[in-house]
Amino acid sequence: MKECVHAAIIMDGNGRWAKAQGLPRTAGHLAGADNVRTIAIAADEMGIRYLTLYAFSTENWKRAREEVKYIMKLPAVFFKKYMQEFIDRGFRMNILGELDRLPDNTRKVLEDAMEQSKNNTGLNLNICMNYGSQREITLAARAYAKDVLEGRASLDIEEADFEKYLMTKDFPPVDLLIRTSGEQRISNYLLWQIAYAELAFVKEAWPEFTPEVLRRCLEEYGHRDRRFGGIKDE
Ligand code: IPE
Ligand code: IPE
Ligand code: MG
Repeated sequence: MKECVHAAIIMDGNGRWAKAQGLPRTAGHLAGADNVRTIAIAADEMGIRYLTLYAFSTENWKRAREEVKYIMKLPAVFFKKYMQEFIDRGFRMNILGELDRLPDNTRKVLEDAMEQSKNNTGLNLNICMNYGSQREITLAARAYAKDVLEGRASLDIEEADFEKYLMTKDFPPVDLLIRTSGEQRISNYLLWQIAYAELAFVKEAWPEFTPEVLRRCLEEYGHRDRRFGGIKDE
């Protein structure tokens, strides 16, 4: 089957899922965090090498203070429960986003996870926290402009050189982008990196997105005809 090296997921629908169970939205975020472990393990077993998950966007600060506070505490809970297992499985944790805008404790937990797993060579588990693609591209443009001003970069930059300024510089392009919970939009996620990604929108909310649903997405991906602007082989 066609290989999916890099899958990205917009993990949406935690709040609605919780509400449907008569639970507070925060219970949805907790169930969602636990599901990150389940799906990371499944993705690794299905041969995915890079799994990039949207956990908190630059726009999510608009939410109620209590909800944001709860989400900011989740990484500590999550890594306490699962970090040892991730290390044992050889996962490498990468956090994408502007970490210096996060509460100190949250940032520290995320930096520790990266540090502890930096020599691992298994699944790259990329978690986007305070991530927004427009912000990422703006920061990249700033860094590039600075390099030009200071004589380190030429004005004739090509796409492959510009990519080195993005937060995803160490990763290949996204092959498959999945969004859960029935919404069909991108919400400021990986705009550059999904240029030729295949898209899959599934009705399941993130807490009910099982390895079986992931398998279904990969099967559908396997049947897609990726052309990259060329012409289909006869
Ligand atoms: C995704 O679930 C998690 C975050 C955006 C932090 P939501 O919290 O957006 O859940 P819905 O979309 O309101 O159901
Ligand atoms: C996108 O979901 C962000 C994450 C999943 C972290 P949102 O729920 O924030 O997106 P919108 O507001 O419905 O577009
Ligand atoms: Mg949502």
